[in-house]
Amino acid sequence: MEADRRPRIAVCPGSFDPIHNGHLDIIERICPLFDEVVVAVLGNDEKRPLFSVEERMEMIGEQCVGSRSCRVESFSGLLVHFMDEIGAQVIVRGLRAVSDFEYEFQMALMNRRLNEKFETLFMTPKEEYSYLSSRLVKEVYFLGGDVSGLVPKRVLVRLQDRRRRMEGK
Ligand code: PNS
Repeated sequence: MEADRRPRIAVCPGSFDPIHNGHLDIIERICPLFDEVVVAVLGNDEKRPLFSVEERMEMIGEQCVGSRSCRVESFSGLLVHFMDEIGAQVIVRGLRAVSDFEYEFQMALMNRRLNEKFETLFMTPKEEYSYLSSRLVKEVYFLGGDVSGLVPKRVLVRLQDRRRRMEGK
């Protein structure tokens, strides 16, 4: 069997609205395993994100500085088309709990049907982040709860800034 000398590129796709410590834990874990890791932010999100795609990319970029193998990009349309464009081979998704499984399983199988050369790899985050989601972070924060320790400091600052703007201050 001939060795494949192409760089091993993994894509970590998601909404990242905003990135939280569970995402970062997964990204840190996969960086040593691949030549390149592309954190791919979904641009055409129907979920009406709190942060623009540019803001979400900036927040991720602020955390990825120092890692030569990690970069941030945005994509719209099908993930498999984006993967083809950048020459990636592997999709990495975090699997937090059994409740994630059905959705992730469907996506993995659909992506394989769309292009069988791509593999999906599931990673488990640290237990302390296994309940964490961007949706919960936003909900807790805007209801006055403490999310420090769950998101990077600079994300917390952006949340505070967004709240001030929403309150017209
Ligand atoms: O963080 P999320 O919202 O769980 O990420 C979902 C994401 C962005 C990975 C998924 O919605 C996606 O890949 N969207 C792009 C459109 C696409 O390829 N759809 C078919 C996937 S089976």
